[in-house]
Amino acid sequence: MPQNLLDVKQLFKYFPIRGGILRRRIGWVRAVDGVSFAISNAETLGLVGESGCGKTTVGRTILRLLEPNAGSIMFDGTDLMKLGREQMRTLRRNMQMIFQDPQSSLNPRMTVKSIVGEPLLVNGIARGQDLEQRVLSLLKIVGLSRTRWEKNSAGFTSRRQSSLLDNAHRCSFEIQVDLRFEVQS
Ligand SMILES: Nc1ncnc2c1ncn2[C@@H]1O[C@H](COP(=O)(O)OP(=O)(O)OP(=O)(O)O)[C@@H](O)[C@H]1O
Ligand SMILES: [Mg+2]
Repeated sequence: MPQNLLDVKQLFKYFPIRGGILRRRIGWVRAVDGVSFAISNAETLGLVGESGCGKTTVGRTILRLLEPNAGSIMFDGTDLMKLGREQMRTLRRNMQMIFQDPQSSLNPRMTVKSIVGEPLLVNGIARGQDLEQRVLSLLKIVGLSRTRWEKNSAGFTSRRQSSLLDNAHRCSFEIQVDLRFEVQS
């Protein structure tokens, strides 16, 4: 297994600034300007900086939700810049963005069951009864009662409950990551 789980070198993402009637490019926003860092297995890295300094753009560019202008991104020994759209989609089962505000990233019209189960369903990891069992066990792990699991999340008015639900949603991905490493080791 490679030493670094994620290795980012000299990442650049510039956005064009357009102006005038013809919307010509009149400059660049240098959102990410030569960023390099590495994260090894089981390590946490905090990216801190003032609003607009490029934190979200770094995340979106690593996942190639935005195409970088330059740079190298190695994830678990794979060069992400060489992957096609479909391969990137598969790989995003193992890498995801976690948004700062759990309440804003949860769809209030979706049921608790579908919020937690959707990542597993969409990625073809589980369905039917297996999916239900996994959702229930995730709710248990994060400490959410199963009584409201078929109701929508709009009733979760406290930030704590939203945060627990967000944890359950995220854990469904993390289980996939755990499985992957078990297979590899
Ligand atoms: N799609 C885009 N098109 C043009 N400019 C963009 C785009 N996305 C981000 N930017 C610009 O890139 C810069 C970095 O934005 P980004 O959202 O990455 O900052 P941030 O560090 O995440 O800020 P915050 O702490 O407010 O979330 C900002 O100047 C922003 O206006
Ligand atoms: Mg941001």
